Amino acid sequence: MEYQINKICCIGAGYVGGPTMAVISDQCPEIEVNVVDLNVSRVAAWNSNDLSSLPVFEPGLADIISRRRGVNLFFSCDVEKNIALADMIFISVNTPIKTSGIGAGMASDLKWVESSTRQILKHAKGKTIVVEKSTLPVKTAKTIKSILESNIDNLTNSFSILSNPEFLAEGTAINDLTNPDRVLIGGEDNYAINALINIYKNWVPNEKIITTNLWSSELSKLSANAFLAQRISSINSISAICETTGSNINDVSKAIGMDRRIGSEFLKAGPGFGGSCFKKDILNLVYLCQYYGLNEVAKYWQSVVNINSWQKERISKIIVKNLFGTISGKKIGIFGFSFKANTNDTRESPAIEICKALLEEGAILQIYDPKVSHDSIKRELPANDELERPQNDKCGHWIYSTTSLESAKESDAIIILTDWDEFRNYNWKKIYEVMRSPSWIFDTRNIIKNPNHIKSLGFNLWQLGIN
Ligand code: UDX
Ligand code: ADP
Repeated sequence: MEYQINKICCIGAGYVGGPTMAVISDQCPEIEVNVVDLNVSRVAAWNSNDLSSLPVFEPGLADIISRRRGVNLFFSCDVEKNIALADMIFISVNTPIKTSGIGAGMASDLKWVESSTRQILKHAKGKTIVVEKSTLPVKTAKTIKSILESNIDNLTNSFSILSNPEFLAEGTAINDLTNPDRVLIGGEDNYAINALINIYKNWVPNEKIITTNLWSSELSKLSANAFLAQRISSINSISAICETTGSNINDVSKAIGMDRRIGSEFLKAGPGFGGSCFKKDILNLVYLCQYYGLNEVAKYWQSVVNINSWQKERISKIIVKNLFGTISGKKIGIFGFSFKANTNDTRESPAIEICKALLEEGAILQIYDPKVSHDSIKRELPANDELERPQNDKCGHWIYSTTSLESAKESDAIIILTDWDEFRNYNWKKIYEVMRSPSWIFDTRNIIKNPNHIKSLGFNLWQLGIN
């Protein structure tokens, strides 16, 4: 007998839960999808009539929300009721790195996973399939399972646990969800596995849906992210060699990427990887290796994170060095604060560490990003009154700019930190005119394709892995 899913509940209306459930509701109009979250203002934003103020910016998302919301897709804070009504529950809550206690700085904080699992145990009715969707350390399903099986006296309720890692990348989430490279389902209960397969079968070809045991599924997610991040650290390490040897990182990337065995994607040098997953997942892997005494493996993966930190430090130093060794009191325009283009997400953005380093040197940063709000930057950077005074008494601070021209005004340098398309099409002559001379552009994303034109306008130009 096939298990028919009529009602889905997703706990967590964040960057994963929101877009994933939007696509499921769009592809499976016969299923009612309820996305629940404790955060009242986030839920209100998902329900807002103004589709430009949804909590997550993703190309294509607003169209789906306008099609499905109120039809078979609902956002609410009513966690208990929707858990009780659901045949299948996705856990898509936040799992940040622990900040204190055992595993601080390395292991994921499973506080939110645990509390949502306890809510499921308390309110679920009948047979419920629980799907682990957040990025989680290997063996988390075991924790979920032991909580859900703790109430063995209740014979009317039963649970099956599946791992169904999400591989979407921000900025391309809707396309990744609609045309996934693969869908991975880990579990032991064939009945539950088939129920989830039946959902994906509505739009994903059979051969792209693969099943494994729970642990292989969880480890595959960590490993995929570790491999992707490793490619970025590898190319970033080569960018530093290019700068010292007179090679060009774009040419090197192209040349190595044309080898079929290597492939051309994820070879773009930059200021370092950001986002909520890469660092967290690698550190989880490192923690897991250390736990099992695999110290050499732990060191190997730790080095990927180390190179990432080093890349940000070395870029900050290059900027200070080129601006005559001091940036105290100098205005600097920051172009881009999100961790990559086409998202408003700033988690682990390389812009954070680079801006902090420049603020410590006493710079006045004028920060512009097409999608990141003032409030989001406030959450990532120290408040201006908290910034320490450098020795010469000129205090570093930052200002939010609403346009790129405002950000460039009277500045000595522009630092391009995110690869937003709009930066590629700027009228750099206009920007040059509002800046102070000598004017610099530090292009950490290599978006400027005609350096001679930029130099002819009067700019000094530094590009990553080229000079
Ligand atoms: C990543 C994984 O790609 C995705 O499969 C997983 O589900 C979640 O983590 P995401 O963090 O959203 O997705 O973005 P991604 O496109 O992978 O970029 C991560 C970071 O690497 C960004 O800061 C990006 O700018 C940087 N990057 C990416 C590079 O510097 N160079 C590249 O060639 C690719
Ligand atoms: P991700 O990028 O993994 O989607 P986010 O931080 O964007 O992470 O979203 C996770 C969401 O989960 C947050 O909006 C948070 O309020 C919500 N959340 C966490 N714990 C619970 C819970 N027990 N019940 C309902 N929502 C929760």
